Order: sequence, then structure tokens, then C-alpha cells
Amino acid sequence: MMHAHAVDSERNTQAPWAHFSLCPFSQIAIRVMKLVNNEETPFAQVSSLISSDPAFSAEVLRIANSLWYAPRVPAVSIAQAVSRLGAKNLQGIALTVAMRSFLGDALSRPVMRDMWKHNLACGLIAETLAPQTDLDKDLAFTGAVLHDLGRLALAVLEPKEYVFLLGKHKGTSSSILPLEREAFGYDHCEVGAELVASWNLPVAFESIVAQHHHPRQKSDEWDMAALINVSCRLADSIGFPSFHGVEVTPYPELLEELPVIESGNPYPEIESITAEVRTKMEGVESI
Ligand SMILES: [Fe+2]
Ligand SMILES: [Fe+2]
Repeated sequence: MMHAHAVDSERNTQAPWAHFSLCPFSQIAIRVMKLVNNEETPFAQVSSLISSDPAFSAEVLRIANSLWYAPRVPAVSIAQAVSRLGAKNLQGIALTVAMRSFLGDALSRPVMRDMWKHNLACGLIAETLAPQTDLDKDLAFTGAVLHDLGRLALAVLEPKEYVFLLGKHKGTSSSILPLEREAFGYDHCEVGAELVASWNLPVAFESIVAQHHHPRQKSDEWDMAALINVSCRLADSIGFPSFHGVEVTPYPELLEELPVIESGNPYPEIESITAEVRTKMEGVESI
């Protein structure tokens, strides 16, 4: 097995997800994500890479023309979609297409569908909140779509046990971590970070996936994992929970934790963020 961390390679040959990390993740998506990471890359290069894979291109176009982006005039070519959406936005679309195809038929199961929706809602929230910090909004979206990758992976890898655990557990979103370790030897943050490394995704995503349940101390600088931590809990509280029995952070408490309050700016109506996310999520059935 190819693995980014040589010292871990022996441990991972024994790990329960070892065979899982050999599952193919879209190589074209990984190449697109890496290419757009470099801001100097010309649009033409990005669109010719995407166009080299017809099935991937078709999916990218479908999402670019979906209710998420709701273009007034649908893009008819990848070149048009790339120039309208911008290369950075494409990183999120590339990842969304790849994750969707990776999850495949498993997404037809309601519990998987809900987890997937949670990740997408978290992405919409994180990109809305990011401008209140110094963090990049497109990276926030992509990182959030990926944040519970380990949870999705556990549900595919250990469907009966994990779905049972998710179904019966009641508590905060992070309270499930020790139970995952007890049941599988690893929690979903560890599984996700290992997959990000073994798939060779951009390294910035590894810490997001590994640390998104670490609460931020008030005095800490905002980092991507902290932004996604609050976005994740906000997604839980506005109707897109990561699991059925999740105990949500009370709304006033959550508001206190959001970046805008601390920076002293007037808070952009939380109701309008919520309404916007809910409206966009209506277009998710096809994603
Ligand atoms: Fe999580
Ligand atoms: Fe989450």
C-alpha cells in the first residue's frame, strides 16, 4: 500500500481501513485539486485537464449548472464553467464529484445521505463564515465537504456496526469519538486523516479532517479546523445533523463562538445565513 507516512506504513497494513484506503479515489479530481492550488495556473490548463475525462467533465458541468450555483445561463462547456466559477471554486466541485462517485450506491441509504448532506451544509456555512476571518472561503468549502470523510468511510467499511452505533448514540457530535475507538480501534478523525494522506490529497486537508472536533479556545487564532468545527455544529443545529441523536449546541452559545461576534462586526443575520443554506440544500437532491 502506498502511504505518505513511511513510519506508519507497517501499522496501516494491519489497520482495519488498510484495504479501504486502496479503494480508488478519482485521480482526475486529485490532479484538478492540486493544479488549482497553484494560483498561477491558467484557466485553459485547468479546463483542458477536466475535459480530458468525459465522465468527470459531465459531472462538473452538471453541478456547475445546478441550483447550487444557479447560473442565469447554463454553461455549455467546461471552459465556460471554469471561467465563470473560477479555478478555486472548481476545487470544491472536483472534490464533490469525486466523493460522490466514491460513495456510489451507498448514498442511496438514508443514513449515508444524511451524513453527506451534513457535509454539504457544513461547506455552505463554512464558506459564508470564512470572510469574517482571514481564511480562504473556497478552501473552507472544500475542507468542510471533506471534514467527516472518516465517518462516511466507517459507514461504508463497517456498515452494520457503525450504522447501529450512529442510530443508538445520543450526545454531542464529539462524544461519539471514544465509542468509535472502542468499537473499531480508531475514530472517524483518524480514519479520515489516513485516507487523505493515502490518497495524496493536498496536505492542508489532513489537519482539517483530523482536528475538526477540537474546540477552539477564545484566545486562539482562527484556523480552518476551528472554522469547520463551528460550521459543523451549526449544520447540526439548523437541520442537517451528522447523526440522528446528535445533541446540538444551544443556539445562543453557538452564536457566541462564531467569528463575527468576536471581531466586533455587526452579525450578518444568522436567520438569513440559515435560510440561504436551507434554500441551497434544496438543490442537493441531485448532488
Ligand atoms: Fe466529525
Ligand atoms: Fe460534522
